[in-house]
Amino acid sequence: MSMAATFVRRLEGKVAIITGGASGIGESTARLFSKHGAKILIADVQDDLAKNVCKDLESSAIFVHCDVTKESDVENVVNTAVAKYGKLDIMINNAGIAGAVKPNILDNEKSDFEQVININLVGAFLGTKHAARVMIPNRSGSIISTASVCSTIGGGGSHAYTSSKHGLVGLTRNTAVELGQHGIRVNCVSPYLVPTPLAKDALKLDDDGCKRAYSNLKGVVLGPEDVAEAAMYLASDESKYVSGHNLLVDGGYTIVNAGLCLFASIYNCNQEQNKPLFLVVL
Ligand SMILES: NC(=O)c1ccc[n+]([C@@H]2O[C@H](COP(=O)([O-])OP(=O)(O)OC[C@H]3O[C@@H](n4cnc5c(N)ncnc54)[C@H](O)[C@@H]3O)[C@@H](O)[C@H]2O)c1
Repeated sequence: MSMAATFVRRLEGKVAIITGGASGIGESTARLFSKHGAKILIADVQDDLAKNVCKDLESSAIFVHCDVTKESDVENVVNTAVAKYGKLDIMINNAGIAGAVKPNILDNEKSDFEQVININLVGAFLGTKHAARVMIPNRSGSIISTASVCSTIGGGGSHAYTSSKHGLVGLTRNTAVELGQHGIRVNCVSPYLVPTPLAKDALKLDDDGCKRAYSNLKGVVLGPEDVAEAAMYLASDESKYVSGHNLLVDGGYTIVNAGLCLFASIYNCNQEQNKPLFLVVL
């Protein structure tokens, strides 16, 4: 007798907005959510790329042009979800930029700092606000922001990027406290280095360079689909009691203390122990 496993569609009937869904982690999330039965609205500024993703996903995805720094655009994509599908179950605040990587604060322009904060943090604030507006009457919903390992450590990205990602954790916790009374969960996913256009441009690395970057966990390489799986857990009913959480998808990177390296020397498990650790990540 054949024992073919039944594929369970974990997001059947759910409606999700994914900002930054035209590329990288957002695109991967859109593809996974579609496979699991969700209706998706891709909200991005890269119209052609986003339309191509929607074409692949056929009737499960539509594109709505949306600059996350513009409140009217964010309001419009949320209203489109309700007009077309009658509700919004999942909001993924994923759109982001790395911004200029200038390690010396004296070289950092105020305008560059503000641009990163505007897209990465203010954009997520607007997404959370307008998602909450339509989720509150339904007394349910899951809001997820893509933060980063830079949400918990210093020295992993530019001043602006690190500030924006720490800020996302604050936004997540504060809104989780408020929105919990309405049955709405708010969480973040925090990846380590994923070879996407954002990371490769900022770090001047190709796919191979990203694979060779320092990783605490050996034998596996982090891909956008792994981050999508984490977002799916937080979006699905399987995480129904998880809120205010920052889910690190980093293979233990942020718990390594580079100053100690105890296990590296005793068990010789860090093959690159004599080389400086790769510390500039996103
Ligand atoms: N790639 C990594 O190593 C890494 C690690 C940790 C966190 N992240 C975070 O993951 C998220 C996704 O990034 P990615 O790596 O997939 O990069 P990506 O460049 O592939 O995708 C980012 C998407 O955001 C969109 N975007 C940028 N500005 C926008 C705006 N104003 N309005 C709407 N959309 C906008 C872009 O058009 C793009 O499609 C970002 O928040 C990033 O900070 C990435």
